[in-house]
Amino acid sequence: MAKVTFLPANVSYECDLEKLPYHDHGLPKSCLDVAINAGFTLEHACGGNCACTTCHVVVKSGAEFLSDLEDDEADRLNEAADLQLDSRLGCQVHFVKDGEVVLEIPSWNRNYISEGGASMNLGDAIPTGKK
Ligand code: FES
Repeated sequence: MAKVTFLPANVSYECDLEKLPYHDHGLPKSCLDVAINAGFTLEHACGGNCACTTCHVVVKSGAEFLSDLEDDEADRLNEAADLQLDSRLGCQVHFVKDGEVVLEIPSWNRNYISEGGASMNLGDAIPTGKK
């Protein structure tokens, strides 16, 4: 089982990585995929294609359970606001084994999420839980 806690909301989700759906939510077993399938709204304007920075998260703990930073992700992250040492793109960083991970949503993206915003991508503009 994998467990992801999103800060500052401090909400946690557990999932079976082998049963995780994968559809337009970044790489298989991505943190974005976990979030979306758990009903947690994490912006992903480009549809998880490593072409924006709206899924920016900061790994606070559990990096050993996650994929290494690849060149494409690093190049895109260089354009992210509030870039930090442990910044990752939620759609690219993915679980490589079961474990517990804590991710922080950068402050510039919190208001949108706290106001119930959903992705503007691919017609998914309905707040989570209102589909
Ligand atoms: S959703 Fe655009 S880079 Fe992750």
